[in-house]
Amino acid sequence: MASSLVRFGVSMAAPLVAQFDELIANQGYRTRSEAIRDLIRERLVQKEWERGDENVAGTLTLIYDHRVRGLTDRLTMAQHEHVGLIVATLHVHLDEHNCLEVLAMKGRASTLTQVSDRLLSSRGVKHGKLVLTSTGESLV
Ligand code: NI
Repeated sequence: MASSLVRFGVSMAAPLVAQFDELIANQGYRTRSEAIRDLIRERLVQKEWERGDENVAGTLTLIYDHRVRGLTDRLTMAQHEHVGLIVATLHVHLDEHNCLEVLAMKGRASTLTQVSDRLLSSRGVKHGKLVLTSTGESLV
């Protein structure tokens, strides 16, 4: 859907602007407008997951040792229990013992967080991180 552009002025201290310009230049932004739009989107996305009952998308990354007894079964079982929530899985055998698993999820933020916490706290999971993002539907 096409949306009209709104221009607005922002006042801030010169040193803050200088810091901001340096930051966004290093990130590769060509204009302040682009950077500010992304900052606003980031804040909106954050708000969306904080509310908890919103539909969000997310990825859970897990690093684990497949030799830990029962772990692979537990992870597989959890994924079968949440068919519909976990929509895709990527598994990489990193070396002889370590596995990298990335679960793509879509559903209520609170459910995604709950399921992720359970998997992350499983014995044998060495590291992991849930990244929540928007489904994109409510972002322009
Ligand atoms: Ni593996």
